[in-house]
Amino acid sequence: PQVGAEPNSSDRPLASHAADPSIFLSLVVPTYNEAANVGNLVRTICTLLDRYLPDRYELIIVDDNSPDRTWEKAQTLQPDYPQLVVIRRQQERGLATAVIRGWQQAQGNVLGVIDGDLQHPPEVLQKLITAIAAGADLAAASRYAGDGGVGSWNGVRQFLSRGAVRLALWILPEITSRLSDPMSGYFLVRREAIANQPLDPIGYKILLEVMGRGRIDRVAEVGYTFAERQEGESKVSWQHYQEFIRHLLRLRFATGNVPVGRMGRFLRFCLVGFSGVFVNIFGSFLLIRYAGLGKITSKTIAVAVAIVNNFIWNDVWTFSDASKFYTGWRSRLVRFLRFSFACGLGALIDIGIFALLDHFGMPWLAANLIAIAGSTAWNYLINLKFNWKT
Ligand code: GDD
Ligand code: MN
Repeated sequence: PQVGAEPNSSDRPLASHAADPSIFLSLVVPTYNEAANVGNLVRTICTLLDRYLPDRYELIIVDDNSPDRTWEKAQTLQPDYPQLVVIRRQQERGLATAVIRGWQQAQGNVLGVIDGDLQHPPEVLQKLITAIAAGADLAAASRYAGDGGVGSWNGVRQFLSRGAVRLALWILPEITSRLSDPMSGYFLVRREAIANQPLDPIGYKILLEVMGRGRIDRVAEVGYTFAERQEGESKVSWQHYQEFIRHLLRLRFATGNVPVGRMGRFLRFCLVGFSGVFVNIFGSFLLIRYAGLGKITSKTIAVAVAIVNNFIWNDVWTFSDASKFYTGWRSRLVRFLRFSFACGLGALIDIGIFALLDHFGMPWLAANLIAIAGSTAWNYLINLKFNWKT
């Protein structure tokens, strides 16, 4: 799904928005079984926002048809809070997709998210709004910035939380190193930074998706302390850790707007290399077995197919950001010839290093691994600098 550049539902007048062009905030609260919290939450947030942004905000509750009927409880508050919008999703579950659903229906030029259990202190909204007004594209509340903290988390949860941050830093450094708390579920973002970008998150971490696929130049952070849950219980389970890892990998290997970091590109190149080894071996086997060709002929054809295979994957995936501007068959052919030539030299380097190490008595496997590492580095760097030129 994606969020449009302009608000698309017009059941709410935009007069106040137009009168003050600076900020109109659409704050989304995803809820699942928060009936015991929702009254307190709406009262607290609306009282604050009536002061910070009078007539320039809306509060959008997106409830996934909670068994405790949170949506119904929220609807009974609407007469008292004209800024309150309630969306009841019946077909889907999931925090991150619920947030996108709310933003798709939002009126504002600034979009936000806050939890529905009051663990994210609403007073922090003022600082987040100020940061956006000062020019940030995204302002995130952070447990690890300024005077922030995790409150009274037990050792296990602290350990898991830190582990998650480390994992995210390792898999997606170019996104997560920009924030002290990339797992935060409490932030504001300018609509224009994510408008018309396809968003496809899994699980809880909507902030990773926004950072990864949005056009976020300036980031601001505000410290906060994660409060005790007042009522109800957390929905986090082991399934969410697994979804989190799948989400990280999906962003890592996505093409398009996610910046392809140096590490990510090299990883792709190596994966493509492995696919070539597979094509090479499996191709020879098929040709010998089913086409009745000789071993040498089969091998020659298999190597050629492997080179074409590797080239195609590298062109449409590893270096997609560089090749997307030159999709004509002529420029592809030029890149293919340069790729084959560079890899041919790479094969000579592989043989050369192996012969040299073998000559000095290095064990066969070690010499082979070093030679392959050397030629892979050569292939990668030459193609990076002189073929796809990134
Ligand atoms: N609509 C919808 N659908 N809402 C959901 C769902 C769902 O499937 N699952 C959870 N929510 C709502 C909860 O009702 C709550 O309002 C909010 O999302 C957060 O869920 P919790 O289960 O309370 O999460 P948490 O307290 O462990 O962690 C939260 O805070 C962390 C620190 O900022 C989450 O926001 C994390 O993403 C965040 O890292
Ligand atoms: Mn919570």
